[in-house]
Amino acid sequence: MNANDLSVEPSDVNVVKWGSETPRGGKAVLNRILKEGATVPLFCAQTLIDSLRDVGYNHTTSALCEHIDNSIEAGATEVRVFFRQTGKQGAMRTDAAVYDNGRGMSPNVLKVAMAFGGSMNYNNRDGIGRFGMGMKTAALSVSPVLEVYSWQEPAAFYNMTLDVEEIGKEKANLVQLPDPTLLTELPDELAELFLKPMGWPSDDSGQDILAGNKEELAARLGGSGTVVYMPNCDRLTYAKVKNLGTHAVQEVSRVYRRCIAEGLKLYINNRRVEASDPTYSIAGARHTRLRSG
Ligand SMILES: Nc1ncnc2c1ncn2[C@@H]1O[C@H](COP(=O)(O)OP(=O)(O)OP(=O)(O)O)[C@@H](O)[C@H]1O
Ligand SMILES: [Mg+2]
Repeated sequence: MNANDLSVEPSDVNVVKWGSETPRGGKAVLNRILKEGATVPLFCAQTLIDSLRDVGYNHTTSALCEHIDNSIEAGATEVRVFFRQTGKQGAMRTDAAVYDNGRGMSPNVLKVAMAFGGSMNYNNRDGIGRFGMGMKTAALSVSPVLEVYSWQEPAAFYNMTLDVEEIGKEKANLVQLPDPTLLTELPDELAELFLKPMGWPSDDSGQDILAGNKEELAARLGGSGTVVYMPNCDRLTYAKVKNLGTHAVQEVSRVYRRCIAEGLKLYINNRRVEASDPTYSIAGARHTRLRSG
């Protein structure tokens, strides 16, 4: 046989031994390649997106820090992390979200940002982001769906969503992202995060909620910002919000101590996080204040 002859051997199809959970779209693409010699994409989106869920993050907190990094890089002065738990014991649902008041993204930037490898800071070592992977892989490591809402003027929210299951069903060889959808307000499910106290923390020192009602929320969300929403998380380090929150507070108070000392307002479930400074070198840090009484 000529080495350049790419005609398909009938036996090729029998080589395939994919499991029962294989994305339908992935099967369709592979079959087309094996049976018809169709063009092979460098990345098979239908299966890659599924496998990326397992890569890279060994803790829910470290995945959330990817979003906080992006927020800081976008010039945010306020970042709020949410863990919301609803439903009855045994059938609890947990949603996670990160809000920031940074510069937000234009629709075209948002489109690039949703692509794996899509970055505005690619290979720029001055900042934090570098690979165009963080937001997507970190979100999908905790939830099968990533919803991003970003705005650069009041009440003009651009939304894009990556849904692992939906992409798995795609039959096209080359999966393309749709254009962002423009919304005049955030969906209720998401807006509620900003309007109601979270189940945790429940002690009487209270929670500093972003807004009292929807009208106030529109003003409070202001001229630019971004929300990364991870609904219905299915891969979290802890089942209970109390443990997720406590661990997150502990870590981010240390990791972002310098940014906090420089004025970043960082909240977890509406509770402001103070800088924790193991080296006692920041004047405003919690330890310093404890020591000085
Ligand atoms: N909160 C945000 N506000 C504004 N722009 C954002 C925000 N989050 C992400 N972006 C934009 O989306 C792009 C992609 O983000 P992503 O985290 O996937 O990659 P990155 O930060 O560039 O690199 P890395 O893979 O190292 O995190 C960023 O380059 C940035 O332009
Ligand atoms: Mg990043």
